[in-house]
Amino acid sequence: MEILSAARVGKYGVGAFNTNNMEITQAILEAAEESRSPVIVALSEGGLKYGGKDLVNMVIDMSKSATVPVAVHLDHGSSFESCLQTIRYGFTSVMIDKSHEDEETNIRETKRVVKAAHAVGVTVEAEIGRLGGVEEHVVVTEDEVALTKPEEAERFMAATGTDYLAIAIGTSHGANKGKGRPYIDHQRIVEIANRVPNPLVMHGASGVPQDVVARLNAAGGQLKDATGIHEDDVRKAVTEGIAKINTDTDLRLALTMRVREVLMNDPKQFDPRKILGPAREEMKRIVKERIEVFGSANKA
Ligand code: G3H
Ligand code: 13P
Ligand code: ZN
Repeated sequence: MEILSAARVGKYGVGAFNTNNMEITQAILEAAEESRSPVIVALSEGGLKYGGKDLVNMVIDMSKSATVPVAVHLDHGSSFESCLQTIRYGFTSVMIDKSHEDEETNIRETKRVVKAAHAVGVTVEAEIGRLGGVEEHVVVTEDEVALTKPEEAERFMAATGTDYLAIAIGTSHGANKGKGRPYIDHQRIVEIANRVPNPLVMHGASGVPQDVVARLNAAGGQLKDATGIHEDDVRKAVTEGIAKINTDTDLRLALTMRVREVLMNDPKQFDPRKILGPAREEMKRIVKERIEVFGSANKA
């Protein structure tokens, strides 16, 4: 994916934002267009199950008519079949995530996907190491977290031909990324980047803005100990080799917070546009802020 190669060389990051519906997709694309930033719209298998082919068609259609470069990406693909299905749908990028398997299986399954995807001009992300947190198909506890080993990363890339590599360097999925400021292993990013010239990917990168969490809780939410990745760690990581940065939680929080506020302040409201419209604006604000942190504004 050219937008990622340019980001690695230019030492900035391109945001990959997860979507599950029209409002989230509009927030991502409008923010990217207003910031003149390339962007990646990501759908997980959970998202595909939720929105089906209607969601896929809508996202691809909206991405094609955007005025900035947009990639449509499968997030955490669990199988060869799921990667192939989304390639057929028209996705321009897929992730095969066999990071929970042994190295040999991860290499074998990733190679299969790379071969098929490259035959039709689709680029591939894979992952080694293990992040903490919850995805649709996997839960990783704190004891199971395993940071990526630089020599393993080099071996994996040479063996598979993967285009961009997700690495575990201290981030985790979800709204509870640790007590206080989660520790990000910058030295490890540098060591991996010295051995792997491809764009590196940071999953679990949400900032979990504390003002959003406070407003969400003030409007009846019950999120405890919500913490995210400090923006200075993200700013530094993009100078070290991280070129794709995944964000889902921040948009979920923004949407839920605004929906709660609107319903709390206006209990008689039942027009979906008056409920989801403000949520869309809030998500757009968050995407724009993230784009500033990643340094991808005016790179489109
Ligand atoms: O990495 C996981 C993303 O936040 C997607 O989550 O699988 O629940 O859609 P999901
Ligand atoms: P967050 O939970 O930090 O938003 O991470 C999302 C992600 O990594 C999607 O693949
Ligand atoms: Zn992820």
